[in-house]
Amino acid sequence: MKLVLIGAPAAGKGTQARRLIDKYNLAYISTGDILREQVSKGTELGLKAKEVMDAGKLVSDELIIAIVKDRLSEDDCKVGYILDGFPRTDVQAQKLDELIGSVDRAIYIKVPDDVLLTRLTARETCPDCGAIYNKISSPSKEAGVCDVCGAKLTQRKDDNMETGLVRLKTFHDTADALIDHYAKQGKLFEVDGLADIDEVTNEIFKNLGE
Ligand code: AP5
Repeated sequence: MKLVLIGAPAAGKGTQARRLIDKYNLAYISTGDILREQVSKGTELGLKAKEVMDAGKLVSDELIIAIVKDRLSEDDCKVGYILDGFPRTDVQAQKLDELIGSVDRAIYIKVPDDVLLTRLTARETCPDCGAIYNKISSPSKEAGVCDVCGAKLTQRKDDNMETGLVRLKTFHDTADALIDHYAKQGKLFEVDGLADIDEVTNEIFKNLGE
């Protein structure tokens, strides 16, 4: 199965992706995670991406497409995969079609902007295992500590109100073309991301035929 997750910042893409990979045993490709890893390693790619990410803008299509092309050639992708945060522009969507044919489903998690900003500023993530928490809606059992692996939770540098507003604008500037792209192919499934996390998961499973 080849799935794409579309949604504004903090819509719940990463949260749902982790449940989908467990259920369908798929490879997980998050372009945001790949870029953050490069930033923390201080690689040439990370240095190029850091400023753009901190500003809430998009890394160039050329760079992102090269990253995804490379990642898709890895062995674990043979069984199928979830793309989280890619494609993000119409150019990226067209390139993905060229690379893989077409996806089975593009899942658009829809959430109003005011809710997104609240979620985003309250998010905490585990730098070691990638678990995602929310200080308001799904806090860790012990404040600041990962339930899964015990690591100290961190907040992303771009998870603040100022950058969050730019990220939202960036999403709205490019999302319509992307959503149209998959609607025209009959692959789009829109899910209400305001529902609680389990309900969103169940709606997605139902749409995928479970
Ligand atoms: P990326 O890391 O992809 O960030 P994003 O798209 O802004 O998405 P987020 O990771 O912020 O949110 P999410 O939807 O995964 O939400 P989550 O599940 O964590 O990209 C970062 C940057 O990298 C970009 O700004 C750009 O610069 C660059 N980049 C990446 N891909 C690119 C591309 N293709 N092209 C160009 N540049 C690219 O949930 C958020 C919070 O809400 C959590 O606290 C969670 O617990 C909570 N939550 C989730 N679901 C619910 C729910 N149903 N109810 C209540 N709370 C919920």
